[in-house]
Amino acid sequence: ATIKIAPEKARPISDMLLGAFFEDLNYAADGGLYAELIQNRDFEYQPGDKEGRDKAWISTHSWTVKGNGSEMAIDSVSPIHINNRHYAVLTTQKTGAALVNGGFDGIVVKKGQAYNLSLFTKQLSGANTAMQVSLVDADGSVLADTKLDAANTGWKKLSAVLTPNANTEHAVLEIKPLTTGKVALDVVSLFPQNTFNGRVNGLRADLAQTIADIHPRFIRFPGGCVAHGDGLGNIYRWKNTIGPVETRKPQRNLWGYHQSAGLGYFEYFQFCEDIGAAPVPVLAAGVPCQNSGTGGAGQQGGIPMAQMDEYVQDVLDLVEYANGDVNTTWGKKRAEAGHPKPFNLKYVGIGNEDLITDVFEERFTMIYKAMRKAHPEITVIGTVGPFYEGTDYEQGWDIADKLHVPIVDEHYYQPPGWFIYNQDFYDSYDRSKSKVYLGEYAAHLPGRPNNLETALSEALYMTSLERNGDVLSMASYAPLLAKEGHTQWNPDLIYFNNTEVKPTVGYFVQQLYGANSGDRYLPNTLALSSNIDAVKKRVAISVVRDRKTNDVIVKMVNLLPVKINTDLDLSGLNLAGKKVSKTILQGDPTSKTARPETSEISEQDAAKATLPDYSFTVLRFAAK
Ligand code: AHR
Repeated sequence: ATIKIAPEKARPISDMLLGAFFEDLNYAADGGLYAELIQNRDFEYQPGDKEGRDKAWISTHSWTVKGNGSEMAIDSVSPIHINNRHYAVLTTQKTGAALVNGGFDGIVVKKGQAYNLSLFTKQLSGANTAMQVSLVDADGSVLADTKLDAANTGWKKLSAVLTPNANTEHAVLEIKPLTTGKVALDVVSLFPQNTFNGRVNGLRADLAQTIADIHPRFIRFPGGCVAHGDGLGNIYRWKNTIGPVETRKPQRNLWGYHQSAGLGYFEYFQFCEDIGAAPVPVLAAGVPCQNSGTGGAGQQGGIPMAQMDEYVQDVLDLVEYANGDVNTTWGKKRAEAGHPKPFNLKYVGIGNEDLITDVFEERFTMIYKAMRKAHPEITVIGTVGPFYEGTDYEQGWDIADKLHVPIVDEHYYQPPGWFIYNQDFYDSYDRSKSKVYLGEYAAHLPGRPNNLETALSEALYMTSLERNGDVLSMASYAPLLAKEGHTQWNPDLIYFNNTEVKPTVGYFVQQLYGANSGDRYLPNTLALSSNIDAVKKRVAISVVRDRKTNDVIVKMVNLLPVKINTDLDLSGLNLAGKKVSKTILQGDPTSKTARPETSEISEQDAAKATLPDYSFTVLRFAAK
C-alpha cells in the first residue's frame, strides 16, 4: 500500500473525541466500581428491584442471623432519613447469635490493609447493646474485629478501622450482640481505605485505574437507559444521589437489580476531575424510556406539564451544583461535600435514545430553552434516538435543526460488516448543522463476543471518526463495565469480578485511540494494489497531529487475511529528531486475548511498516 500524507492540508478536529460511557448496568456500580463491600447496607432492597420480582429481594436481602437467641425484623417507623426508610431491628434474648452480611458474592479483604467500618445504631430497649463486629473467613476464623456500643438517644454513627490478619475472597461481616436488648441498625458500611485516589465513599482502585488508562477526554454518566428510567418514577434524579449517603434515595435499577445511589453525582464529578475527564451528565428529557410515563403499554407519556417547571429547575440546579459559587444553594451543597471549587461542568446531555414524539419535543424544548437562557456557557447535547430501521432518527434531527442544538447524541450497535461498509457515514454530514456525539456504539456479532474481529471493525470505523472530527465531536463505546455472573448486556469493554479486572480486546482499541489522540487531521491517501471494493474497505488509515506535543500519529487497520507492506511517504512532516514507537494489536479474528505490543523502531522502518493480517498498528512519531 502506498500512503501519502498532506500535512499542508491539516485541519482542526475535536480534541474531545474519545470518552467513556458509564452506566449502572451489569452491576457496574454497587458491587462494581463503587467500593462499598456490604450488600444492601441500608436494608432498602425491595421486592420490585429484581427481575421477575423475586421475593428474596426484600429489606433483609444479603443479611442472615446466624445462631440462636437473636431475631432480625425490619422497621420503618423512625428512620435516619425519610429517603432511607428501612432499618433492621435486632432483638437479642440470649447472646451468641450474629447478624451476618456476605457482601457481593463474598467480601474480599487483604492482609494488613485498613478497612473503614461504620454503622448507625439506636438502642430501642434494654441497656446499650455492646456489639462485637468482626470480619470472619469462610472457615470461621476471625480476620479482624472491634467492639462497639450502641447509642441510646437517636441514631448515631459508630466507626472503627478493621485490619484483617489474612487475605480472603470469602469473608463475611458479623455483628454479634454481647448483651441482651433491642437495637436498631442501619447503613452498615465497610470500605477499603485504598480507594481510587484515597477518596472517602470512593471507587474500587483497580477498576477506576483501568478506566483512567483509556485516557478518556470525558465520562458520560449515569446512562444509557438508567438516565431516563423505565417509567416516570424511575427517572434518575440527581438530587437523590448527593449528600450524606444515609440521606440518599435508592431505587430500582431497570436492568433488574437495585441502585443504592452511593455512587452518585458528587462521586461521578469527583472521578472525572481525578482523571482529567470532562463530566458529561445525561438527564432525562422529561420523558422516560419510550415515553412510558402513563397508562401502560401503548400509552405514551412524560412528566405532566404541571410538574415540568420543577423538573426544568432540577436540570438548571445541576449546573449550580457543579459550577456555582459556594454561596449559592446548590454550590453550598457541593462545598459541604468537600469540594468548594467548581467542577467546571461544560456539557449537559438532555435525553437518551428517546421516542421522538410531541410529548418528547414539548419537554425537550422547554428544558433546552431554559438551559440556553440560564446557562449559555453550557453546551447542551440533545438526542436523535437510535439509528436503526424504523426509529425516529430523522424526526430527532428535525428538532435539533429547528432548535439549533449544538450537539446531538447518536447510538448504534451494528455487525462488524456495517462498520466496515459505512466508513463514509459522517463524510456527507452537513457541517452547518448540529455536531455529533456518538454516545453509544459497538460491533455486535452473534453470541455477542468482544473479540479481535469486533475490535478491529471498531478501530477501522474510528479512523473515519477522526477523519470527520470536525463534525463528530465526541464518541464513547458502550457499555463500559460488566461483572461476571451479573451481566445483562454483552459485549462490554471491561469485565471484572471481585478480585480481577479483565479488559477486552476492544478495550485496547479504545485505549490506543485515547492515548494517541490529536487535534489536527492530516489528510492522506491510501493506494492498494487491489481495486476490489470489499478489499479496499478492509484497510483504513488515519493521521493526526497533537499540537500540545507536536507528535504525529498514524493509525492503520488491516482487516484482511493477508499482510500488507506499506510505503509511507513521511516527507513534509518534519519528523527529524523524533523517535518512533510502533504498537501492534494482531491475532486471529476470534481472539479474545490479543494484546497490543509496543516497540521502538527507526523512521526508515516506520516508512516501510508491515501491517500483519487482522491487525491494528499505531505509529507515534514523538519528540525525543
Ligand atoms: O448501552 C446499553 C443500552 O443500550 C443503553 O442503556 C441504552 O441507551 C441503549 O439502548
